[in-house]
Amino acid sequence: MDSELPRPPAHGKYDFHANRPRQQKGTFLKWFCVSLIIIIILALGICGIVLLVSFKKAEVPHFQVKAVQVPKFSVANVLTDQQKVLSTNLDFIFESDNKNMFVGVDFGNMVMVATWDDVEAHLGETHVQNYVQKSKGVSTLKVSAKGEVEINKDVKKEDMKLDLSLSGDLKFFSGPFKTQTWPFLISCNKISAMPGVEQPAQPTPAPVPAKPAAEQPAQLRRPPNSQHQQSRLQVSRQHHRLSRQPNNGLLQANISKPAGYVTGIRYNGIDNILDTVNPEDDRGYWDVVWAPPGTKGTKGNFQRIVGTEFRVILDREDQIELSFKIPYNPVTNAKKAAPMEIDQRYVMLRGVSGIYAYGIFERAAWAAFGMPNARLAFKLQRQQFKYMVIADNRQREMPVPEDRKKPRGQELAYPEAVLLVDPIDPQFRGEVDDKYQYSMESQDIRVHGWVCRDPPSGFWQITPSYEFRSGGPNKQFLTSHVGPSTLAVSYTSCALNKDMFGITMFVSAHYSGEELIPRFAEGEPWNHVYGPMFMYMNNITKEENISLLWENAKEKMRSEVNKWPYSFPASEDFPKANERVNVTGTFFVHDKYKTKEKEPAKNSFIGLGPPGEAGSWQRDSKNYQFWTRTDEHGKFTLPFVRVGSYDLYGWVDGFIGDFKHNTPINISVGQNVDVGEVLFEPPRDGPTLWEIGVPDRMAKEFHIPDPNPKYVNKLYVNHPDRFRQYGLWERYAELYPKDDLVYDVNASDYTKDWFYAQVTSLDNVASDATYKLRIALASATNSDLQVRLNKPKPSPPIFTTGRIGNDNSIARHGIHGLYWLYNIDVKGSELNKGNNTLYLTQTKGVSPFQGIMYDYLRLEGPPSSPK
Ligand SMILES: *[C@@H]1O[C@H](CO)[C@@H](O)[C@H](O)[C@H]1NC(C)=O
Ligand SMILES: *[C@@H]1O[C@H](CO)[C@@H](O)[C@H](O)[C@H]1NC(C)=O
Ligand SMILES: *[C@@H]1O[C@H](CO)[C@@H](O)[C@H](O)[C@H]1NC(C)=O
Ligand SMILES: *[C@@H]1O[C@H](CO)[C@@H](O)[C@H](O)[C@H]1NC(C)=O
Ligand SMILES: *[C@@H]1O[C@H](CO)[C@@H](O)[C@H](O)[C@H]1NC(C)=O
Ligand SMILES: *[C@@H]1O[C@H](CO)[C@@H](O)[C@H](O)[C@H]1NC(C)=O
Ligand SMILES: *[C@@H]1O[C@H](CO)[C@@H](O)[C@H](O)[C@H]1NC(C)=O
Repeated sequence: MDSELPRPPAHGKYDFHANRPRQQKGTFLKWFCVSLIIIIILALGICGIVLLVSFKKAEVPHFQVKAVQVPKFSVANVLTDQQKVLSTNLDFIFESDNKNMFVGVDFGNMVMVATWDDVEAHLGETHVQNYVQKSKGVSTLKVSAKGEVEINKDVKKEDMKLDLSLSGDLKFFSGPFKTQTWPFLISCNKISAMPGVEQPAQPTPAPVPAKPAAEQPAQLRRPPNSQHQQSRLQVSRQHHRLSRQPNNGLLQANISKPAGYVTGIRYNGIDNILDTVNPEDDRGYWDVVWAPPGTKGTKGNFQRIVGTEFRVILDREDQIELSFKIPYNPVTNAKKAAPMEIDQRYVMLRGVSGIYAYGIFERAAWAAFGMPNARLAFKLQRQQFKYMVIADNRQREMPVPEDRKKPRGQELAYPEAVLLVDPIDPQFRGEVDDKYQYSMESQDIRVHGWVCRDPPSGFWQITPSYEFRSGGPNKQFLTSHVGPSTLAVSYTSCALNKDMFGITMFVSAHYSGEELIPRFAEGEPWNHVYGPMFMYMNNITKEENISLLWENAKEKMRSEVNKWPYSFPASEDFPKANERVNVTGTFFVHDKYKTKEKEPAKNSFIGLGPPGEAGSWQRDSKNYQFWTRTDEHGKFTLPFVRVGSYDLYGWVDGFIGDFKHNTPINISVGQNVDVGEVLFEPPRDGPTLWEIGVPDRMAKEFHIPDPNPKYVNKLYVNHPDRFRQYGLWERYAELYPKDDLVYDVNASDYTKDWFYAQVTSLDNVASDATYKLRIALASATNSDLQVRLNKPKPSPPIFTTGRIGNDNSIARHGIHGLYWLYNIDVKGSELNKGNNTLYLTQTKGVSPFQGIMYDYLRLEGPPSSPK
């Protein structure tokens, strides 16, 4: 750094005695120049400020729609022998006033749509491109539309009440700069042809093609490429309105166009079951978290999926399918968006009370990235949908999002966990709310949702198959929950398989860590279809018991599962039943120290995943997996497997380790595969000397303490899932404040006493033989497990796992995360005859959430004659 002595000015002289610049005698010319420069600088500054102010003002357009009129509206009935055609001819006059002299307005992509509800007819649509309005002043814009539609009854002119909508983009310009774009939608309902307005005599000659010859009735129809003939779909610039039974309006959904936000769902007399406290882009949407290479942990950039390309894929009587796609341009989007394209699809079927959604994720040879999270979320009206159901024994009245915010809520050890200190509804006072208490294993996330008591209605997310989700059958995801309070706008909603709403999660690092983040190398292509999921809505009468809504939702789920794979998705990326095949076989297990003969692997998991090591499926997040459970004879059918190359994996409760069939399985269309008998020989070298726990990949059988009474979720009191209570990690330290737990293999009971270490006794030790210690972990979070025999710390461990895991299952109240199996050789010479002490030390402990969960431990003697 420079010294602190005063420096002489760059120009001029310095008076070192007075310690200041020396006065100089200036000439008039010098002063004149200096003044001139100052004036110029000031003038430039003022100009700059004026420009800045005007640009600022330009950013806040003063713009008003003064009037909307429909002065001309004529109707014509055309009667033929075979058909009745209704035609309309209308003008829409739009008067606007721009009061901002700094701003010019441009109307882009205007669309007018006229519909007549009772016929659910699409009566007309017109497009006006780029009508420009000058800055400041009144402008009038006339939009005209003609339309005709076939109907099955006579219509009196007086009965015709039209709904009109005009939509488009208003673009505001300040000079050449576009400052803002506002999408707009103006709708006018129930407009009748007004008396006094001149209308053509009726019936008028059809403004449609002349009456066709009887043998060509098709000509009377709209051209086949028209998508609106008798359609249930109304297209406007901003919204798509999907109606199931438009004539009585049972279910109607609005989806913003081209973004693809579900902004409104009308059902059972509820104007909008989605949360209208939230802006339109925060009610029903897809989002992802994506991480450029080098991003640490499970972090990334949050990206809500905002489609920019809209397409009507299908618009038929019985089915509507819409696409809201976000394309990717590797040049202009580089580093700004996830390097992939996402096509959000929404489908409605006739007579079906719900909306199907699926997403096609695809990438070409683009930049590398990882995707820690992908989901579809729905946020429901927080004041109406308050009862949440995720399972028969996991359902409860829920607090509202406001309860989670200070001062009503008090954040606990992490922001997701909140103690409700002053909830709006006092019944929740003193309870903990934490979305992780409502997570579930993928195999169990089939239906979950929310119930509204008045009018009694349910909103359910049904996932008929988890083939597209990451991490296999026991990967845990969030389900319905109450939303976080950290956002400016908080919400309650229902998402498909994850957060405080109805969520469906497809990919997440929860209960698994970074290892479950799909990562794509530069240039690596990918195509994956998430879904379809089904957002199902049901209702009962006020007299009925609301539990019927859940019962009905489960029934619906079963019937959807039976329909899998769905036949309706229009995308070829979703293979239909005839493009998939079945894989069958019989699964056996043989542990020669347990039974003489192999035995059927009953009720066991068996599945196909991408080729890899045994157990690799639990870390796979890019591919499809197909899992099932065997029957009591070990027989299995994996139905409807997609074409591809797989390995066959499995595991059997009661046995440690992972099964992988030695022959890879290639699936091609039309060829069912019978793998015959497959045999799992779990790791085993010698007879069991002692064991602790049950090998089932969970720590459920061990002692789970009661929660601190300050942090209770009443749902999990006297509940088999008591491990879901908050703060149990603190209980361990409270229960064993000083000394480690000591477990005696002979005397202790692992359901009560097991937590940390155990004592064992061997009657005979073969000092030249090798014993095998097997430690199966159900979870690990930034841990290092060291194993010592008979010599406590600081002597060196006989085995260490090294730093493992980041599944965070302790903090998130899981009873397992990823499965880890360690097979450790123990030399007989290290064992004592009689008492032996095994020290199991988890050495990493910066945060209370670090730690491991045990699944099972076993010491095997040296190989001897098996059973
Ligand atoms: C759908 O949008 C139309 C036009 O804006 C509106 O009138 C209707 O109430 C909306 N329906 C729902 C369910 O949000
Ligand atoms: C309510 O449910 C019944 C079937 O249980 C169905 O027929 C009816 O259409 C539903 N009502 C609405 C408004 O969806
Ligand atoms: C509603 O049904 C549930 C479950 O079947 C039952 O426990 C409850 O008592 C019933 N409520 C009423 C009011 O009948
Ligand atoms: C596969 O099995 C299902 C029943 O699980 C059956 O409906 C389907 O027809 C079978 N597919 C083939 C190709 O055999
Ligand atoms: C399966 O397919 C892969 C790649 O498509 C190929 O390398 C392998 O040889 C095939 N295996 C069998 C058993 O057909
Ligand atoms: C453990 O039990 C076995 C028999 O069940 C007995 O032989 C042995 O002495 C016991 N060891 C201890 C330390 O109690
Ligand atoms: C083994 O250790 C236990 C507990 O420390 C003790 O009670 C027992 O007497 C010991 N047995 C032998 C044979 O040393």
